[in-house]
Formats: sequence, C-alpha cells, structure tokens
Amino acid sequence: KRSWAEPYKIKMVEPIKMTTREYREKCAKEAGYNTFLLKSEDVYIDLLTDSGTNAMSDYQWAGLMMGDEAYAGSRNFYYLWDNVKKYYGMPYFVPTHQGRAAEHIISKIMIKPGDFIPGNMYFTTTRVHQELAGGTFVDVIIDEAHEAQNEHPFKGNIDLQKLEDLIKKVGAKKIPYVSMAGPVNMAGGQPFSMQNLKEVYALTKKYGVKLWFDATRATENAYFIQQREKGYENKTVAQILKEMCSYFDGIWVSAKKDLMVNIGGFLATRNKKVYEEARNMVVIYEGLHSYGGLAGRDMEAMARGIEEMVRPENISSRVRQVEYCGKELEKFNIPLVKPYGGHAIFLDAKKFLPHLKQDLFPAQSLAAEIYIDSGVRGMERGLVSSGRDPKTGEQRYPKLELVRLTFPRRVYTQSHIDVMVESIAEVYDKRKSIKGLKMVYEPKYLRFFQARFEKI
Ligand code: F0G
Repeated sequence: KRSWAEPYKIKMVEPIKMTTREYREKCAKEAGYNTFLLKSEDVYIDLLTDSGTNAMSDYQWAGLMMGDEAYAGSRNFYYLWDNVKKYYGMPYFVPTHQGRAAEHIISKIMIKPGDFIPGNMYFTTTRVHQELAGGTFVDVIIDEAHEAQNEHPFKGNIDLQKLEDLIKKVGAKKIPYVSMAGPVNMAGGQPFSMQNLKEVYALTKKYGVKLWFDATRATENAYFIQQREKGYENKTVAQILKEMCSYFDGIWVSAKKDLMVNIGGFLATRNKKVYEEARNMVVIYEGLHSYGGLAGRDMEAMARGIEEMVRPENISSRVRQVEYCGKELEKFNIPLVKPYGGHAIFLDAKKFLPHLKQDLFPAQSLAAEIYIDSGVRGMERGLVSSGRDPKTGEQRYPKLELVRLTFPRRVYTQSHIDVMVESIAEVYDKRKSIKGLKMVYEPKYLRFFQARFEKI
C-alpha cells in the first residue's frame, strides 16, 4: 500500500508563533490552567477544536464574494436550502448562526417540563438546552462506549434494551424524541452503525417516538460505515449520508465542522409543523428565517462546503490524518481511546495519570501540561466538562476522563503531528511529576469554557 498525502496544496499561509517554556508557564497560569482561556496567539499547534477552525477552499472563498446581503430572500439562502435537500434529504430548512442555536430552538419546540430525552451519550451544549427546556437527558449508549480501550467498531450505537426500558418506565408520551448523534463526540468520536440506526428507527416507530439526529459530523459517521459495515463498502459517503438521514424526523447541524466553514448552523426536518414553528422562533432568537444570524456570504460558503465534505478524497484524508496521529502516539504506548475517533484523538487521562484522583482533574491537568511543554492546545473532556446535576448540584463523575486533540480540517500537515506526538511522549515520560489542579472559579452553565484552576 502506498502512502497518502493531503489532497490539497497551500495557497495562503498564516504564520504561527514559537514560544519558550517559561513564557507558556506564565500564559497557562494567567489562563487559570484552562486551555479555553489562552490567547490563540500564544498557541503553537491549536488542537482545541475542529469547530469553525477549518481552512476553506478557494471555491468557498470565491463564494464569499457572491454574498447576496439582502435582509430577506437572499440567493445564497435558496442555494443552501437546495443543497440541504440534495445531500441530507430533508425538505424543510432553517439556518441558525451555529449548532447550539438550532439545539436551543428544537429543544424549546419539542420538550415540555418533565420530559425525558434519551440519547447516545450527552453532548455539552445539546444537554444544557434540553435541561433548560425542562427535560432530563438519559444516556442510552451501549456500555462499551464508556470503556476507553474497548475496540467495538460502533461504540456510538444505542443500547436498544436501555431505550425500550426507558420508554416502558416513563411512557412514550414523556419522550419528545430520541436524540442521536454520530460520531459521538464525548465517547471519543465513535460512530453508530446503519444496522443500529435501523433498529432504533424500528423501535421508535413501534412506540410512536420521534427520532432526531445531531448531524454535526454525519459525514464522518458515513465514512466509518463505508469502511466498517458489511454491505456499504461500495456505496459512496454521499449515498450513506442520505440513507442515514432518511431514518430521522429531523436533524440539527453545527456547520462549523463537516461543512468546513468558520461559522454557521441549521435545522432541517421532514415535519412541516415543526418547521413552521422553528421558522417562526428563529426570528426571535437569530434573525429572519432566510438568514438565521448569518451573512449571505456565510450561507454561500456553507452551501459549497456541503458539496466538498462528501468528496471521497476530503473525507478520507480527514479521518486518516487523525488515524496517523493515533498510530504515532501508540508507538510510545500512550493510552488512547480506541478505535481512533473521526475528528480527534482522545488521550485517556485516567490511565496517563493513574496517581491522580478524578477530583484533581487529571484531564484538565494533562491538557495544561501539554500546552506548557510545547504550545500544543487540546481540550478537557472529563469531570470539568460533565459539570453538575442541575437538580442535586452534585458533580457528575464521568467514566471517561479524556484530553481531546482535535484536528481542524485542511489546516495542519503531517509534520505538525510529528512535533505534537514528540511533545506528548515527553510529557508521558515525566507524568509522575504532574500533581493535579483545584478549581477556584466555577461558572454555573457549561463550566468548562470559563472555569479557572490553580496548581496543587
Ligand atoms: N453537537 C455536537 C456534536 C458538537 O460537537 C457541537 C459543538 C455542537 C453540537 C454545538 O455546535 O458549537 O456550532 O454551537 N462542538 C464543538 C466542539 C464546540 O469543540 O466539539 P456549535
């Protein structure tokens, strides 16, 4: 097998700053050891997120010049709507400024106080909007998803028994919809299988429960189905994506991921009533239903991004870059979530720092240490992200205590990955010297974004 290379060449570059360890120690302290609070200028290789950090193509940049900045009925809106129909197969569409805005609207429309929303593991913004609407999120993902080293090929699958037990316990009337995501971000970027989706679909049909899809990284899920599931090896990613969407009543999307833009989101559905409500509600929170908080040019870049995201060379190099990083890290025996995710490599901080109790925030500490070592910025996905139960106020201790190294699309090269791997290997060598952190400031909602820490 021959080696592969990035399916693009670089036309414009953005310089990045090299800094000293001493300087980074100061920056980390000032940022309260929270990588979200660092200045981007002080970061060397930024793997905080793949959200809005992607490099657009020349085709997308050219599209920005075609922005129709009319308040109502912009041409770009109709083009984007056409592509949502064509690629996701959903007839109705409402743009929003990003994914959580769509989550806000769909949660407000569908959820009544006292409802339960089953899903394949929580996502931070998804769950907070479900809770703010008065609902309770219930995790119905398969147990394997909570085990970092379990090599199940579809750790994003829903456990049908857990789902049916919940429906029987609380009654179908109290479940406005099942909230399915793929790949599952907090599980380590793990996909669900088409087989599982079909079974979930059949079960929800049986009980008359709706099924909604967080399709933020759906193209990656479709790619994993093509690579791993029997019967899909000869289908295109575009065909698989459309088949996946055919089982859902609606989808919400943060366009800042798959669509390779810097801002944008949307909600799309086959349910006319929900569409009409969403179209009405977006006017209150986002802007008119034909721009949803976006400029015309943003919608043009999104429409063009949809066409690019399903191209075989784009999606395969995207996922293979993550895989390359995983394989290199494993040469140093660094504990990772397996299989490798679609958008990121997740370091298993519990195994990396076995001497730290979860109360000392091992993943938060590890992310800070890696930044101090080399200027590589990752993100905590453990106890800090999990937050507190809104009813009891107790911390929700997750089984997975991870540091996410997330790959922006088309931004970094293999040599950046090599440098990053060397740094993590060095931190691994010195891991016993890491003592943990204590939280000194804790915001009420989504605390991981703004919490501050001090070294123990
Ligand atoms: N759903 C998933 C699965 C996500 O990963 C995100 C964002 C959202 C919804 C919300 O979308 O940011 O456009 O409002 N995830 C980013 C991340 C923040 O870094 O994983 P948004």
